[in-house]
Amino acid sequence: MNKEEIRKALALWYERNKRILPWRDTKDPYAIWISEIILQQTRVAQGYDYYLRFMERFPNVQTLAEAQEDEILRLWQGLGYYSRARNLHTAAHQIMEKHKGFFPRDPKEVRLLKGIGDYTTAAICSFAYNTPIAVVDGNVYRVLARLTECEIPIDTTAGKKHYAQLAQELLDPQHAALHNQAMMELGALQCVPGTPNCQQCPLTTWCKSAGKETASILPIKEKKTKIRIRYFHYIRFIIGNTFYLQKRTGEDIWKHLYEYPLIETEEPLDTKSLLTHPTFLNWTEGNSNIYITRQSGIRKHVLSHQHILAQLTEVRLSKETPALAKLIGVQPEKADVYAVPRIIELLNNDIKLNQP
Ligand code: ADE
Repeated sequence: MNKEEIRKALALWYERNKRILPWRDTKDPYAIWISEIILQQTRVAQGYDYYLRFMERFPNVQTLAEAQEDEILRLWQGLGYYSRARNLHTAAHQIMEKHKGFFPRDPKEVRLLKGIGDYTTAAICSFAYNTPIAVVDGNVYRVLARLTECEIPIDTTAGKKHYAQLAQELLDPQHAALHNQAMMELGALQCVPGTPNCQQCPLTTWCKSAGKETASILPIKEKKTKIRIRYFHYIRFIIGNTFYLQKRTGEDIWKHLYEYPLIETEEPLDTKSLLTHPTFLNWTEGNSNIYITRQSGIRKHVLSHQHILAQLTEVRLSKETPALAKLIGVQPEKADVYAVPRIIELLNNDIKLNQP
């Protein structure tokens, strides 16, 4: 990694491409602090007006400290995460009492203020005082992971340490404010989530992921999204030669595909409970002879955010019920016009049936 060249290319790109934002026009640590807290869980477009209103009403630490909490919250209304506003108020009191109303310069003191963590400390101290501490936010993680094609997950202790070190090594110590802003801006505008346009990136010469698939995969997170488990009990009702399908509607998986009548549960259901399930009773109402003719094993279907555990039970009835009459009665030889999910095919195979 050629640090010097990367820093230069980054700085040049930033000067040409940066957004003009009110909090970039100042070296006032108070203003930078307010902007950073607003931007923590808020997009620039949404935070912009809040920042201007907040600064107009509370232009300095003293006015903020003297305000009533109610008024601060009122001004914050709509931004969400209201603890941010309450912490600002508490920190303003801390600054009044401990620092005579002057925003501290020492990063250790800044870090002790309520609501200020490592990221915000680095942002305030570097932007306001040019203190050489690298900022690492979500944008910077993405730039660094891609630049070095690094697969260490960003949401682990080891990952946090690794990327913090890397960011610190890359930081231009003479121009910390500009370098940090530029890294964040590159992540926000150029090295975007999804598929970035690597061809027009100022760091493409040095980036190990440039133009590769890794660019859209990195950075890696270890903790997976929570997986929902769904239990699908399909029933292949047959009366004479006819069986029944229904069309999936609604905003869910397999929209507009066909499937057998389905009882979905949040918990596993054994066959005995299936046969007494209210929906099953509705479908079979009035039938005295109900035979289970075949049953598949339990098949697992893995999707990105859900696992489906599906089982097919074939049930023979002697007469059609009003509930079944609303479904699509299908003759086996006409079955192949209906598109079914892959899992239905697998279940059919399980019961030695080639077509639904
Ligand atoms: N997000 C967090 N801090 C920011 C800043 N200083 N400029 C633009 N976006 C940001």
